[in-house]
Amino acid sequence: MTPPVNELVDADRGYINPLVFTDQGVYEQELEQVFGRSWLFLAHGSQVPKRGDFIQTYMGEDPVLVVRQKDGSVKAFLNQCRHRGMRICRSDQGTSRTFTCSYHGWAYDLEGNLVNVPQEERAYRNEIDKSKWGALKVPRIAEYKGFYFGTWSADVPEFEDYLGDMAYYFDAVFGRWDNGVELVEGTSKWVIDCNWKFASEQFASDMYHAEVSHASALIALHEDPAFWAGTSHQTLMPGRQFGGNGHGSGSFWADSIGFSESMYNSPALSEWVTANADEALRNVSEQQLLKVAGHNTIFPNFSWLAGPATMRVWHPRGPGQIEVWAWTYVPKDAPDEVKAAYRRMTQRTFSPAGSFETDDGENWTEIQQVLRGWKARNNTFNAQMGLGHDERDVHGLPGRTSDALSESAARGFYQRWSDLMAGLSWSDIAELDAARQAKEALHQEVQEA
Ligand code: FES
Ligand code: FE
Repeated sequence: MTPPVNELVDADRGYINPLVFTDQGVYEQELEQVFGRSWLFLAHGSQVPKRGDFIQTYMGEDPVLVVRQKDGSVKAFLNQCRHRGMRICRSDQGTSRTFTCSYHGWAYDLEGNLVNVPQEERAYRNEIDKSKWGALKVPRIAEYKGFYFGTWSADVPEFEDYLGDMAYYFDAVFGRWDNGVELVEGTSKWVIDCNWKFASEQFASDMYHAEVSHASALIALHEDPAFWAGTSHQTLMPGRQFGGNGHGSGSFWADSIGFSESMYNSPALSEWVTANADEALRNVSEQQLLKVAGHNTIFPNFSWLAGPATMRVWHPRGPGQIEVWAWTYVPKDAPDEVKAAYRRMTQRTFSPAGSFETDDGENWTEIQQVLRGWKARNNTFNAQMGLGHDERDVHGLPGRTSDALSESAARGFYQRWSDLMAGLSWSDIAELDAARQAKEALHQEVQEA
């Protein structure tokens, strides 16, 4: 029997019950309580640049259509026909004036309003009130620096409050160029047989695995394989981890702005970044620019890497499977040669065939396999790294930070997951967070005394 949901995770002590990764009942509840009550990434503006452009995506398991409207705004609605539930639109992406269901032909406009019913007079005696049978609209959409997020929930705070201190890390990457970023055309999609939280949590919190899981790839990728020999890249590049509101970010610190660019083996890219450093420094601080190669997650399932220029959504597909949708993001104003260098970097590191990506996926599927055992499922996982050693106001970084080798962000991730799964309202969560922070401040004072 599955224990009550609020007993599955003890973030204060760093305990995780593996049933959170396997149980069908937990998963069903996640779709409603977590995915139904969080801000979810829908699309980047560059994917739907013109009026009538649309793209199909998912909010949890729910298919939605994201559509650029006639007035330039972006709206989204459930891609489900109100007649018998067929997908209203079966294309992944395109441009249209209306969407016509391929089953019986009900047609919807760009906002999802039902505008045409075939044989309306004979079949419905003109008695159907079309205004009542539009597609279900995503009631709240937020645009932040060209990225669109949506939520079904009226309760969740405004997007910028939800993002909170994580905005610092988001802006560092996506907000540094005057004209922002764009996504390289083409979405890489692949399936991994693992729970979505393995991927999402790792991108929020896990710097620890890198030099073990990616040892071979790190050596193979570097121009000078001796670079890593006999040393730990984690000590070479000290970093810090941020965790807050379920989000997480971990970054190395470079000693010069050009540092990360040396990874790309592209003089054109290095030159362009250096030549445009002033522009970046107008938009973000020097410290933000120096935090490179970072891994990041906006709770619950949107992640990016700052070095390899990949961003992705981990779409859940049952407790034991995810569908990854990944893109390369590039500075919009960069010349083609520079964009190509970013693209090559993503492809060889974090893509379905990337040398790092395959390392990560193998770990997650292996764990999921082990969890088929009943003993393995009835166990406790340790998430205690760095417990009690969080700090605030270090180097002027916002929010709660710790050494890069910590599971602080993972504990924050599971704390938020657990709050939502327990059905707490977002205002209750805010009160609890304030109390948690007060407790944490007290702990810090005692430690410093
Ligand atoms: Fe869409 Fe019948 S299911 S028209
Ligand atoms: Fe990894």
